[in-house]
Amino acid sequence: MFKNSLSMVLNHHQLPRYIRKEKDDIDAPINTTSIPIIDLHLLSSSSSQEKEKELEKLKSALTSWGLFQAIGHDIPSTLLDELQRTAKEFFDLPMEEKHKYSVNFNGKQDWIQGYGNDLIISDDQVIDWSDRLYLLVKPLDQRNYNLWPQYPTGFREILNKYSMKTHQAAEIVLKNMAKLLDLEENYFVHLAADNAPTFARFNYYPPCSRPDLVYGIKPHADGGAITIVLPDKEVEGLQVLRDDQWIKVPIIPDALIVNVADQIEIMSNGELKSPMHRVITNSEKQRISVAMFYLSEMEKCLAPAPELINEIKPMLFKKMKAQEYADMYVKHTLQGKRAIDFARV
Ligand code: SIN
Ligand code: FE2
Repeated sequence: MFKNSLSMVLNHHQLPRYIRKEKDDIDAPINTTSIPIIDLHLLSSSSSQEKEKELEKLKSALTSWGLFQAIGHDIPSTLLDELQRTAKEFFDLPMEEKHKYSVNFNGKQDWIQGYGNDLIISDDQVIDWSDRLYLLVKPLDQRNYNLWPQYPTGFREILNKYSMKTHQAAEIVLKNMAKLLDLEENYFVHLAADNAPTFARFNYYPPCSRPDLVYGIKPHADGGAITIVLPDKEVEGLQVLRDDQWIKVPIIPDALIVNVADQIEIMSNGELKSPMHRVITNSEKQRISVAMFYLSEMEKCLAPAPELINEIKPMLFKKMKAQEYADMYVKHTLQGKRAIDFARV
């Protein structure tokens, strides 16, 4: 089992490993149904009418798409720009510098954190056309600063600042998710608590002369509770599956993309959807995004909320420890399978 980076394995011997097996046409015309936009400010508005209206919009977004563009999140545009710039500076560093943070093959470092590409667990696995930097940002006392880049200067401080801000946005989303399901308001907030894990993943997609043959990230659903993504400011690439059609997620200046992930689909007994999504590369421009993954504590039990189970809607998912789901998730997702299907009753 090992992890390596795109730039490192790009030789002719390795190239076939990046070629997708599916024959779907990534340039097929896709309809332009617009992705829902939710104003997080309105969700805490003092006008109850405004608040209710936005909550209804959120309900419709999360039960149908499982994803929305968040505006009114209170994260200054300057901080978003700084984070993007810092990420770009990191990926632009010489390979030797980046590899100081890569997972070392003797297994001395963390298996998931650090710089590199997909973890490779089988010979027929298709590898994504991207490099990543994966870091645990919370709980604070579990941060492995050996893997947090020293260069570009300011990287650590900016990630720290950004993660505090997304934490606030995550709390707003989790509280309102509970409300729209008629659960107690704090039902999901433990998923963003100080002792629950949050990972940051910086994604770098180099241009690819044959975008029709590879994926930036192959189709998958996320394995945590919720994900908050800062997309590239100029280059599109993210697509979400809705009614069997891939829909482009357009760029809205300063909006963050929030999506439901598997743990919330399980806890909501399938009411909220963890959507399949993928990233397509392009032949001219690189693309950079930063995803923040909010997860349940590994020791906690994952199960549908009892309030959401009834005669019409029986329990759809098995009860299991978050750790057990995480293990299943990694195994199935790396092989291009939908992990949540293996958690159904
Ligand atoms: C992902 O993390 O699944 C993709 C995010 C993106 O690059 O837009
Ligand atoms: Fe994802």
